[in-house]
Amino acid sequence: MGLDQIKQEKKLFHTITFGCQMNLNDSERLAGQLRTIGYEATEDIEQANLILINTCCVRESAEKKIYGKIGEMKRLKRVNPNVIIGVVGCMAQKDKEKIVKKFSHVSLVMGTYNIHQLVELIRQIESSREPVLAVWDQAEQLAPEVPTVHKGKISAWVPIMYGCNNFCTYCIVPYVRGRERSRPLENILSEIRQLGADGFKEITLLGQNVNSYGKDLASQVDFANLLQAVDQIDTITRIRYMTSHPRDMNDRLITIIKNSKRICEHFHLPVQAGSDAILARMNRGYTTQYYRQLVDHIRTAIPNASITTDLIVGFPGETEGEFLETLEFIKTIRYDAAYTFLYSQRSGTPAAQYEGQLPLATKKERLNRLMAVQNEISLEINKQLINEVVEVLVEGPSKNDESKLMGRTRTNKIVLWDKTGKESIGELVHVKIDTAQTWVLKGHLV
Ligand code: SAH
Ligand code: SF4
Ligand code: F3S
Repeated sequence: MGLDQIKQEKKLFHTITFGCQMNLNDSERLAGQLRTIGYEATEDIEQANLILINTCCVRESAEKKIYGKIGEMKRLKRVNPNVIIGVVGCMAQKDKEKIVKKFSHVSLVMGTYNIHQLVELIRQIESSREPVLAVWDQAEQLAPEVPTVHKGKISAWVPIMYGCNNFCTYCIVPYVRGRERSRPLENILSEIRQLGADGFKEITLLGQNVNSYGKDLASQVDFANLLQAVDQIDTITRIRYMTSHPRDMNDRLITIIKNSKRICEHFHLPVQAGSDAILARMNRGYTTQYYRQLVDHIRTAIPNASITTDLIVGFPGETEGEFLETLEFIKTIRYDAAYTFLYSQRSGTPAAQYEGQLPLATKKERLNRLMAVQNEISLEINKQLINEVVEVLVEGPSKNDESKLMGRTRTNKIVLWDKTGKESIGELVHVKIDTAQTWVLKGHLV
């Protein structure tokens, strides 16, 4: 066989990923499986023999974008009828029938519980050329581990548990990701040791609610034990985790984080709303008073900690007064940053049935007011760092400007500086901050 022929037979895949870090990690596990059957990743979608769209359905806006993307793929199928187009992940889980019915160019629909089956499903499609639907209704247990190809070289995601049992009334995730399933401690630790040996410096432990880690395991281990064990792995410089539910964050964890060597001083604690009435209707399981105390405890124990949050505006029945409570709340907490969302009605969730669904215009208007207040606070907090020297883990070139490097502080703030040539990727450097914006700090190497 000539070289040309071999080249021609090389199989290429392209993934498009929407949604949260868990989904990004799932895409790495799709790539890991595909590598075992000779597929290589390509950036060029036109060249791909296999295209996988890994989907999210947490908000309608995400869904709309994804349906548009799936529609666009029709053209590629026309040009190359042999291309395999797959729709996987959360939206595939939720809308399997609709996707099959609407898009004849899609050959694979694979749900969130079936990700480990990719190799057998692709083989099946390659031999039969028939579309395949693989969407289990629920996960009986933890899926078998599959190989992963990590996207970066410095920072890696490590899932510690799948699913969510919280059933916040607005949220679709428990329905598309199923009940909580924790990975055994040993599997997590050996993956992190391997990442350390491979040169990774930062790991982020992933779960919808990391504080529930271990509750479903026979062994007596919890999230605190896991953090302490991971903190012992000395090849890793920084440990992060996402997401911790405010209800389950406690003094014991705060103390462990304070006394740890590697766990970063960043607390992402999604509050969702600053009104007790709304929090109750959201089924969040805490009050604003409880949350304020939690923030006090964190700031007392770890004064330089950063605290970030998620907020939803326009929850069903949210009155102007309740919205103002949220505004007041964020003014007094003073978050480093907040991710703000318009409430999106997700059918099948309790809140979708609540009375008082608000018009889009009201939601947008509140979102704008909320963002204006928060942006000002973020900017004020970031400005306090001007002329300070911060420790930054070098991640790589800035996306928008090749002459600059990008990294993060332990508190998860993005820092840009002019490349000097002295820095290497994965190294800790010191940057003196010159200017501050809402989402980035700029400075120079010292
Ligand atoms: N498990 C994580 C993240 C879940 S999704 C947590 O509990 O924090 C990420 C964010 O999306 C949530 O924190 C919430 O702010 C937002 N979100 C979830 N469902 C939503 C909905 N129906 N409409 C608008 N925002 C939503
Ligand atoms: Fe959704 Fe709540 Fe679970 Fe987060 S904790 S995934 S918001 S149900
Ligand atoms: Fe979206 Fe699924 Fe994550 S719905 S936010 S990709 S868990």
